[in-house]
Amino acid sequence: MSDPASAPPSPVAQGPVSSSNNRRPGGVDHAAAMDRMYRMTRHVYDVTRRYYLLGRDRLLERVVTSRNTATLEVGCGTARNLIKLAQRPEPGQLYGLDASHEMLETAATSIEKTLGIAASSGDSRLATSMAGQTAPGHAGREPIVLRQGLAEQLDAQRMFGRDEPFDTIFFSYCLSMIPTWPGAIDAAMANLRPGGHLLIVDFWDQKDLPGVFAAGLKRWLAMFHVHYRPEVHDAIVDLGKSGRGQVQFESVARRYAYIASIQKN
Ligand SMILES: C[S@@+](CC[C@H](N)C(=O)[O-])C[C@H]1O[C@@H](n2cnc3c(N)ncnc32)[C@H](O)[C@@H]1O
Repeated sequence: MSDPASAPPSPVAQGPVSSSNNRRPGGVDHAAAMDRMYRMTRHVYDVTRRYYLLGRDRLLERVVTSRNTATLEVGCGTARNLIKLAQRPEPGQLYGLDASHEMLETAATSIEKTLGIAASSGDSRLATSMAGQTAPGHAGREPIVLRQGLAEQLDAQRMFGRDEPFDTIFFSYCLSMIPTWPGAIDAAMANLRPGGHLLIVDFWDQKDLPGVFAAGLKRWLAMFHVHYRPEVHDAIVDLGKSGRGQVQFESVARRYAYIASIQKN
């Protein structure tokens, strides 16, 4: 197993290598639950989700990158968003964290296919040998660093070997599905530099959509175990009131979803 604190960034998902035991007090293994949820659907995830995970590209437009920035997606799934960022002229350093080994395996394959960066998943020996390499023709491209772990246990140093906090951390349709989401928000804020941005896109209350349409939509989304969680939205509002950050909300598709932008004080 490579030690993230000493190894250079590697473009791989370190499958079973976890910086946590993925268990919460009470013994619930959330990572195993996510693996069960995505074991089959990860293969069609990007094709099917494009129609209802609205606002992801608009969130990406809010992510400021440059040669020197460090950006983390928590709950990166198939790496769809990280790959889009990586295609910028100056993406900076990109990191992905996810609870699901299965999703990270798909992410690593997708990164390799799309960006031409050699990648592997789950094999920590391969991870070590390929650390820091980029494929021919992609000289200079920073690898995307993927790690398995829980959002609420995020630790830039322990998980990613970073001595500095991140410039931007974002959650794309992830926060509302984390049972211990307050811990995930706190961990993200703790691993962000002052002035850095926490960005969140997630389902909203659909108040500006016609009633019948909104009701049908809610039922349809429930089939995928996703829904609006007002308490998450309220906690973000409270974060602004507490003085920890400057909070702004914008609506996506008539309050189908919101994008929250929190600049850390
Ligand atoms: C709905 S998918 C969204 C994937 C991606 N962000 C996107 O926009 O396509 C949610 C992802 O969050 C991950 N996830 C859920 N709970 C998590 C947790 N506690 N810590 C880290 N990742 C988590 C899941 O494994 C899954 O890959």
